[in-house]
Amino acid sequence: MKKRVALAYSGGLDTSVAVGWLGAELGYEVIAVAVDVGQDVDFEALRKRAIAAGAVEVEVVDAREELLADIAMPTLAANALYEGRYPLVSALSRPVIVHHLVAAARRHGASAVAHGATGKGNDQVRFEVGTRALAPDLETLAPVRVWGMSREETIDYAERHDIAVTVSKDRIYSIDANLWGRAIECGVLEDPWIAPPEDVFSLTVPVATEPIEVTIGFEQGVPVSFDGAELGLVDLVGELGRVAGSSGFGRVDMVEGRRVGIKSREIYECPAALALVMAHTDLEGLTLEHDVAHEKARLEPRFAELVYDGMWFSPLRQAMSAFMASTQRCVTGEVRIRFSPGGGAEVVGRRSPLGLYVYDLATYDTADAFRHEDAEGFVRLFGLGIQTWSARQGGAE
Ligand code: ARG
Repeated sequence: MKKRVALAYSGGLDTSVAVGWLGAELGYEVIAVAVDVGQDVDFEALRKRAIAAGAVEVEVVDAREELLADIAMPTLAANALYEGRYPLVSALSRPVIVHHLVAAARRHGASAVAHGATGKGNDQVRFEVGTRALAPDLETLAPVRVWGMSREETIDYAERHDIAVTVSKDRIYSIDANLWGRAIECGVLEDPWIAPPEDVFSLTVPVATEPIEVTIGFEQGVPVSFDGAELGLVDLVGELGRVAGSSGFGRVDMVEGRRVGIKSREIYECPAALALVMAHTDLEGLTLEHDVAHEKARLEPRFAELVYDGMWFSPLRQAMSAFMASTQRCVTGEVRIRFSPGGGAEVVGRRSPLGLYVYDLATYDTADAFRHEDAEGFVRLFGLGIQTWSARQGGAE
């Protein structure tokens, strides 16, 4: 029996040629695995293309719910934004793809998994480290990293080996998309001084002329309703993304530090993800106990780095998620966001049955529940240390 490999198949030029290359050069039978994470792809056409390229089996897996429930929600619980800005779009789909790649490898008796990522990016790290974590015995292959062909040479290779590919000559950008957002690279964007042309955007085209207000309901940290209507995650994220995106909200333009040591200019559009992080963070302001909130905020950037670096399946990420999950029990309530034409957004209201905001304590009106006399002794003790220190030096003026 020939050795087999499960390939993460996107339907594009590189992974189509990889199907033929893994067979012709390395002698593998290829199981093409296409994972639907909400990218805009015709999966029936993709199935045919994989077979035409020479795959012995094609699996198409709908993992949209899994992406949101199992990966995006724990990430939202951590309000995770890489380098403070990037909601980890591509980094979130990789663990889902790896999970199905490994499962397909097992089902079809494959000894290896393969992906179409290059040697310059983070995705190779995520695919391979993720695979090692789930299946330490499987080999990992990265044809695009080793074959050293330019785009033109790749097209030539396809022609020579009768691999059917659909190549659009005008492909200018490298795009990765899923339900959590869209990442755009290459072309003119490689000059970080040049403003992104409007044609790179598709989820955040500002058409709204009036402010739009939406209400998002959360149950233990997970969004469950949109403007009062209960919705499943896929629908909620889709609906919120459409509304937020119609105001132009959700764009990120940044120079980012990749795991492999390269700084790269990245454009993202993530209207739903960024609106959810904004709303969720705000609701935590109302519902998390003070020390929990502050400690959690310290851990959040670390969580984002772990996910970005492909460490989703690591024991540290899992331990941190256990902490995050335990903080989410009280993160229940509603948040109102107002999107302004042109891309602005702000939280304009929040409420929770478990909220820690107590009007009678917070109000500056006189008839309140706060014991003012307690404050005097508290403040005296709080300042005692610094007062003693200052007195020893004869004052610090
Ligand atoms: N820089 C982002 C990340 O590492 C986006 C990667 C996008 N991938 C792509 N094939 N265009 O998460």
